[in-house]
Amino acid sequence: MNILGINAYHADVSAVLVRDGELVAAVEEERFRRVKHVAGFPTQAIHACLEMGGIKGADVHHVGVSRNPRAHLARKGWFALRHRPDTSLLKDRAANYGKVNGIPAAVKEALGLAPADSGPKVHWVEHHPAHLASAFFVSPFDTAAVCAIDGFGDFVSTSWAIGRDRSMDVVHRTFFPHSLGLMYLAVTQYLGFMNFGDEFKVMGLAPYGSPDFTREMGQLVRLKPGGTFELDLTYFRHWSGGAGMTWTDGEPKVEAVYSAKLEELLGPARRKDEPVAPRHEAMAASLQAVFEQAAFHVLRGLHARTAINRLCFAGGCAMNSVANGKIRDETPFTDVYIQPASGDNGTALGAAYYVWNQILQQPRGFVMRHGYWGPSFGAAAVDSALVARRDDLDAQRCMVRCIDDDHELYEWTASRIANGDVVGWFQGRMEWGARALGNRSILADPRRADMREIINTKIKFREKFPRSRRRCSRKLTPTTSRDRCPTRS
Ligand SMILES: [Fe+2]
Repeated sequence: MNILGINAYHADVSAVLVRDGELVAAVEEERFRRVKHVAGFPTQAIHACLEMGGIKGADVHHVGVSRNPRAHLARKGWFALRHRPDTSLLKDRAANYGKVNGIPAAVKEALGLAPADSGPKVHWVEHHPAHLASAFFVSPFDTAAVCAIDGFGDFVSTSWAIGRDRSMDVVHRTFFPHSLGLMYLAVTQYLGFMNFGDEFKVMGLAPYGSPDFTREMGQLVRLKPGGTFELDLTYFRHWSGGAGMTWTDGEPKVEAVYSAKLEELLGPARRKDEPVAPRHEAMAASLQAVFEQAAFHVLRGLHARTAINRLCFAGGCAMNSVANGKIRDETPFTDVYIQPASGDNGTALGAAYYVWNQILQQPRGFVMRHGYWGPSFGAAAVDSALVARRDDLDAQRCMVRCIDDDHELYEWTASRIANGDVVGWFQGRMEWGARALGNRSILADPRRADMREIINTKIKFREKFPRSRRRCSRKLTPTTSRDRCPTRS
């Protein structure tokens, strides 16, 4: 039995193929369209999954979609009545709702089926159960406490479940607009990083500063008994409709979700082109500290509720590897499983396994022990790609050599790295998830002081974070109304 899982009309759209409970292929659409975090419909990712599985569209029996537009409708309606959000928010939601309703037809088209064909059975799997399933059903644990923390999806931002064998029971949900992912996003935008998915830059900036503003940053979130939390919504505007969001196609766009009050609390926001100052580093460190405190509070609450020592963790916030590394020290959990695509890309995986295990009640057996589930390319394909990009390679003074003997290849590569060259390492199947894990990696000499700057500015085109010469003076600059800039592009 072939099950296709898809994440569509959200960020990081992706597709996964599962055959008789075994994972066959998993890949994100961005790898083909070359647009980071691309939203829309994952047509090329679906085609790649079919190709990797050696099947035709007609061979797909079930499709799991990691959205359920009917989930929590009453709660959404009550929220709209109570808060009367701006019409732009309602328009955004309605446009997205229309796209989501068109998914069954889009699936048929991507599978090469005619509209009149019967096609596979489509299952709508709510966003958070898809996150939870993406961690639990491919984990090595028969029984586990399961947690997902993200921005939000299907009106939920945090959820807990107990996973036992082929079933999960969701035991707690935190609903929109309260969200630790949104809190991290708001401060990321405040720090001038406005591209979708820039949170990792703030996580990377945090170790350069000291957490001098945790008291102020702590005002954004209130930790409540039982592992729950609430945002102080006066610092945010995602809930009132002032922040437009686009998920329909191309690069996802999210306007500033922080309010003018955040600038009154922390001083003027950093402009995109403004240098990163010690104050910004301290803000990043403070945000990371407050986030960790809140995330561990949630996880301790889950442990207290379940008394299970094994944790499966997912959601965009489970991409915070700095926090992940502290879970076993800061919570009672002794064993932790996080699969490499724990963001929204991974909901395609969760949707497929939710169908296989939870809906069809088929036995578990597969454990995801590595992240190499994308396409691979033979020598001929590599050769033609290099020929097509020859001018670019020449302009970059990039050397291409074909070395058949492994020993010679390793010797030559090591000597180039030792010489200060940067090597693109390409082998086998592409990684599933955002992390380069050795199959599509950039290799360089970590002993050289200038190497991080070379890689960040010349190759990854990232902002550089020079190590601060001076400490942050911990002075908060008051804002004037002219300084406040809640809508930034
Ligand atoms: Fe999510």
